[in-house]
Amino acid sequence: MRRGEDLHQMNCAGCHSKPDWAFASYWVAKKIRPAALGLTSAGAAIWLWYVHVLACLVGLAYLPFSKFFHMVAGPISLLVNGIMEEGKIRPMWRPGG
Ligand code: HEC
Repeated sequence: MRRGEDLHQMNCAGCHSKPDWAFASYWVAKKIRPAALGLTSAGAAIWLWYVHVLACLVGLAYLPFSKFFHMVAGPISLLVNGIMEEGKIRPMWRPGG
């Protein structure tokens, strides 16, 4: 065990974080351990991959309609405001009219 720990520190730990730092997925992995064999033989790796990809695509499609679009629009707005001369821009919309 001691030698294995040394080998791990020398060859692996430099790149890999401790698994329990991913506290949510590590907790889930620990909890579903008894069902792991059944899930594997039911092809869970494949259908969970599809669920994951679909969830990502739904999230991306929803992004422009949600407040998370500020992640994209905020920096662009700051950049544009930083380089535009005041008075030379014609905003399409002004508060109050
Ligand atoms: C140079 C950095 C680096 C080192 C050193 C390293 N790994 Fe990795 N390891 C990675 C990366 C990056 C991935 C993800 C690769 C991927 O998923 O395509 C990975 C993935 C893995 C996986 C997951 C593979 C999978 O299919 O999900 C295991 C298990 C693993 N490493 C074990 C080890 C072990 C054991 C060692 C030491 C002997 C080690 N790694 C050393 C970078 C490293």
